[in-house]
Amino acid sequence: MKTKIVANEIVPKTLRSVSIVGTGSYLPKRILTNADLAKMMDTTDEWITTRTGIKERHIAAPDQATSDLATEAARRALRQAGLTAEDLDMIIVATVTPDMYFPSTACSVQKAIGAKKAVCFDLEAACSGFLFALETARQYVGSGAITTALVIGADKLTAITDWEDRATCVLFGDGAGAAVVRSRPGVRGIIATAMASDGNLGHLLYLPGGGSRNPATAQTVKDRLHFLKMAGKEVFKYAVGSMLSASKEVLKKANMTIDDVDCVIPHQANMRIIRAIGERLGSPLEKYYINLDRTGNMSAASIPVALDEAARAGFIKHGAIVLMMAFGGGFTWGATLMEWRKPEPSQKISSKDASRVRVSNAQKRRFSTNASNLW
Ligand code: ACO
Repeated sequence: MKTKIVANEIVPKTLRSVSIVGTGSYLPKRILTNADLAKMMDTTDEWITTRTGIKERHIAAPDQATSDLATEAARRALRQAGLTAEDLDMIIVATVTPDMYFPSTACSVQKAIGAKKAVCFDLEAACSGFLFALETARQYVGSGAITTALVIGADKLTAITDWEDRATCVLFGDGAGAAVVRSRPGVRGIIATAMASDGNLGHLLYLPGGGSRNPATAQTVKDRLHFLKMAGKEVFKYAVGSMLSASKEVLKKANMTIDDVDCVIPHQANMRIIRAIGERLGSPLEKYYINLDRTGNMSAASIPVALDEAARAGFIKHGAIVLMMAFGGGFTWGATLMEWRKPEPSQKISSKDASRVRVSNAQKRRFSTNASNLW
């Protein structure tokens, strides 16, 4: 196959266009507000809101594992795409909170939905996981090796949250988002992508216990090594710079400017990070879909949940150019630029699905009018 080298990636010239043809998301029922947290620890709604923009987050039930969240999102995405689980050739679950080491969470989703012929595996790139998985699926679908992939970003971050560390536990929530990926003739779909990693910075955001480096012992549990650790200030700095550079890279590859972008779906970690990126890119916050105030940071689930909500709420219009950007542990980061098309007439959203979208009219007004004044 004839190829050309672009930066550090290889783009086969013959890759056919690949689109997202259906999305779905799921947030667990239980909501934990900042006021609830203030009753549990030395924090305030004011501190959390001004530092992060987060007001509340969804918390999975004790008997809900990551694959349970992922399965709900997968069913909704398939329904919207007008496809069944048996149509799937591949399932990729991006997560840092798999149900267990093995089998993979993707295999558990396969079992739950009955995707008999799908090849299934997990992908670990922390908060960048969904974009990395989407690009992986694009390569398989784009090359013609497979027809249909299901890409899921799902995390039960509260399972690895240290509730005694107020600097991190206020940031995270649980959820899952899914996208069905196919080639759609005559549609540009994914236009350009960028992915990058820097393992030298892994120590700034990590979970030290339970792996082969520090297998679980009574001492690792006592030392709280099974919880996420983060150097917040450093992560903040790199998050802004790297999402900015990935976004510029995809725009350059697509020969577009930020003014060509109609809608931005950023990783939903912190409103201050998003505002800093908006200022540096020169794109108004009105173009950004924000749900972190209701969800907190859901790692790999953040982008696909936001994408699903934004598409169903009409925040992303038919034909819109959408820029997605992510940053996470590893470090990993990336961006994806795509042209959005509504599901085809045969793939209409059922009223049952539409009613599940928790985007109020007040929120829709807020997105279109004064998002920049929110925080
Ligand atoms: N409530 C009240 N006070 C708090 C809390 C809290 N929940 N947490 C920390 N503080 C205090 C600290 O103790 C400190 O007090 P001191 O000055 O007396 O020592 C003070 O607030 C400032 O703490 P900082 O950590 O310096 O606060 P900062 O302004 O850096 O904000 C935050 C912290 C929100 C975590 C920020 O650094 C951040 O958002 N970082 C990026 C996180 C991120 O984007 N992660 C993305 C990837 S996540 C992933 O991949 C899973």
